[in-house]
Amino acid sequence: MQAFPSFVQMSYSFRMTSEWWRTAAIYQIYPRSFADANGDGMGDLAGITSRLGDLHDLGIDAIWLSPFYTSPQRDAGYDVTDYCDVDPRFGTLADFDAMVAEAHARDIRVIVDLVPNHSSDQHVWFQAALAAAPGSAERARYLFRDGHGTAGGLPPNNWESVFGGPAWTRVTEADGMPGQWYLHLFDSSQPDFDWTNEVVREEFRRILRFWLDRGVDGFRVDVAHGMIKADGLPDYTPPTAGGSMGGAGGVTADALHDTVGTDATGVALEPEISDEAGDGAPYWAQDGVHEIYRDWRALLDEYPGERILAAEAWVDPLSRVAKWVRPDEMHQAFNFAYLETPWDAAALRTVIDASLDAFGAVGAPSTWVLSNHDVVRHATRLSVTEPNPQGHGLGPRSAGLPSYAPGLRRARAATALMLALPGSAYLYQGEELGLPEVIHLPDDARQDPTWFRTAGERYGRDGCRVPLPWEGSAPSYGFGPSDASWLPQPAQWAELARDQQRGVAGSTLSMYRDALARRREHGLASGSVEWLTGYPADVVALRNGDVIVVANTGSTAIELPAGDVLLTSEVLADRALAPDTTAWLRA
Ligand code: NOJ
Repeated sequence: MQAFPSFVQMSYSFRMTSEWWRTAAIYQIYPRSFADANGDGMGDLAGITSRLGDLHDLGIDAIWLSPFYTSPQRDAGYDVTDYCDVDPRFGTLADFDAMVAEAHARDIRVIVDLVPNHSSDQHVWFQAALAAAPGSAERARYLFRDGHGTAGGLPPNNWESVFGGPAWTRVTEADGMPGQWYLHLFDSSQPDFDWTNEVVREEFRRILRFWLDRGVDGFRVDVAHGMIKADGLPDYTPPTAGGSMGGAGGVTADALHDTVGTDATGVALEPEISDEAGDGAPYWAQDGVHEIYRDWRALLDEYPGERILAAEAWVDPLSRVAKWVRPDEMHQAFNFAYLETPWDAAALRTVIDASLDAFGAVGAPSTWVLSNHDVVRHATRLSVTEPNPQGHGLGPRSAGLPSYAPGLRRARAATALMLALPGSAYLYQGEELGLPEVIHLPDDARQDPTWFRTAGERYGRDGCRVPLPWEGSAPSYGFGPSDASWLPQPAQWAELARDQQRGVAGSTLSMYRDALARRREHGLASGSVEWLTGYPADVVALRNGDVIVVANTGSTAIELPAGDVLLTSEVLADRALAPDTTAWLRA
């Protein structure tokens, strides 16, 4: 057993003591955009600590922090140089300890991001690899290969980076000549580790222990489907262009609609979701990843307090994602099939059934998520009328852009449905304020490597990462004490700021707060789904315990059933449930 710093032992007094992760509402903090304590325009750990009271009021159970580690920030911190330190932009290890202590004192658990697929090219190991010779132990920690063609001038295979362009970059050797190539599934500044190398495995055990010893409650594992590549690194051409974030194609709206029919209630028959591109990609979802997670699970289980692993695995179908959460592997996997489901009753019933079936089959909870730092915010996304492959983002030249109010209305209805489902729910900072995707960012403000690697063809993910508004009339809308903000904030942030919504009946913030409170009171997260009949096909109607949930995805109002109204996503004048509205009633 480990020796624990005393603050770790003292800080455990949670109301949820057993398998908390099965039902937790987990709030994603994107540190650079959450709250800025020192006024440099970049969020920081001290800023997070100062705002934990607001998250406690919201009613969440845990926070997940995107990376705050030492990093040149070529991919907003998903390019790490020191896995065991805090980047000075975000603070210090002492700031981290203070944040964890404050979170635990408020019954909020802390999950940190782990980025094991790749490091930064500035990592000491990669710099050593560049200085060393082909075939050296230093190079063996990454995936260096000789090129093909005359003098090795062609890349070792045809793989493409998720961010666009080739997945290989050629290095210059010590003699000044062009030399080997290294693999980077993401940006060229993010070289992939070779996870067949035991030295890499041992280093990550050390990193896990470092943060566990500091008291973290778990890890969100970045690119958890990509760490092992097929032997021989064979050529591969994905069947579809674009795709998801490190993705096996994800689940498309078409795939979800591709059912063989519906029963009398509109429930889709054969809820299996088709596998678009996951099978066959020699860099995603290789069986070898699972022994790594079994190893990590055993390590986490040595620690008290139910520390968890959550997989970012863009794999489909869901029955395949469930392999990541078998009893001796991870605790949770993100449900990206749910995130990618359109606002369509049949598709929603299908994906909810498929999720509960797939995760339930291995004894894991389903998770639910609608937004994160890689996707168009759902206040915009669910109403976009033209195809928009995940990761491409939205900007002024994009087609099918929705207007704000109808988009928000649909998003609120979608959230109210999601928070009624059994399992663990993920929220992304700012969605509780109804923030839309920021479309009109100036080109020269954009920072996502996707934007640069595609020469502006894809806008990328900056539009969902704009710093949060806290006070409508303060500089930087209260993001920090100055008016600095690493991405420009739109004027609309004034009315959407938290202080404008706090305690206001009908505000998005009030709806989230009420939904999280009712979810807890009625035990919805540990309940089950029973589909209700007798509703139009474009209405999702279910019972979870003593709560009836009705979500109207259609274009006609419907009469609510009998029962006290517990929650509505819009203020209702009477018992008519308008389009794009969700209601919870006491059964
Ligand atoms: C997934 C992360 O969520 C994303 O932001 C990042 O760019 C890639 N993995 C690469 O680490």
